[in-house]
Amino acid sequence: MWLSDLDISQDPCGGADLYLNWKEIDMLQARAPRHRHHWVMGRIAAKDAVRHHLTHRGRECPSPSEITITSESGKPPIAALPNGDKIRLSIAHSGHIAVAMSGDTAVGIDAEILREHAPGVEELSLSARERRLLTAAATRYSSQTRDSRCRLFLRFWAAKEAVAKVAGTGLAGRLSDLEIVNEHPDYIGVQHHPTQTHHRVHTFWLTSSTFFPPVNTEYVVAWTRCDR
Ligand SMILES: CC(C)(COP(=O)(O)OP(=O)(O)OC[C@H]1O[C@@H](n2cnc3c(N)ncnc32)[C@H](O)[C@@H]1OP(=O)(O)O)[C@@H](O)C(=O)NCCC(=O)NCCS
Repeated sequence: MWLSDLDISQDPCGGADLYLNWKEIDMLQARAPRHRHHWVMGRIAAKDAVRHHLTHRGRECPSPSEITITSESGKPPIAALPNGDKIRLSIAHSGHIAVAMSGDTAVGIDAEILREHAPGVEELSLSARERRLLTAAATRYSSQTRDSRCRLFLRFWAAKEAVAKVAGTGLAGRLSDLEIVNEHPDYIGVQHHPTQTHHRVHTFWLTSSTFFPPVNTEYVVAWTRCDR
């Protein structure tokens, strides 16, 4: 898993041309300017994840610009290596960060910036049973404050997104396909009903600092991978 936290707001390609190849620079230019920053950070995180994946397995490690990342609309992204091999990827962006993970089997990652959700979002995105689980977890941690409920909700949401990415479906319109079935401080159990598979989704918090203006921001990251 890899994290990219880079201020390229003044120049969406600043420094990133070391990572991107010409094909990807064309892809970047085809994107709306407001989406470029996140897209580039996602590519940087993903290429670092792929290079780490290869090095860890003692395989030849191409330079970042020799790796091409394609993400067809509505499908998980894939890294293509110069020798023709393909590596599975998952990418997420939020706030000032992007995270990515790679794998030989399907992987899913999500990151969510810590912020209070609007009233009604819990009811829209969680079933009554899941909300009871949320309340039970908040009680177990002896903390019924708004902040801790918000953190738990974000972990639930990010866990669902991670599984939606492993499944390759995305979340839109399919929220009820995914059900949170248990909660542990380090992971969340998610049942994917269409395939009747259970996923253990690991979650952790990280803090990212921005320098201009100086702000510490918290994010929850959720990740999981398929066994097969
Ligand atoms: C498509 C979806 C994966 C996008 O999630 P998001 O929160 O908008 O964005 P994230 O930063 O988490 O993830 C974006 C990445 O997901 C990846 N992705 C897109 N579609 C994907 C799919 N079908 N399967 C796996 N990964 C996918 C892409 O790599 C994308 O990054 P890129 O454009 O830089 O290549 C999906 O979860 C979704 O459908 N979101 C809708 C959100 C929603 O329903 N909101 C309702 C709130 S109540």
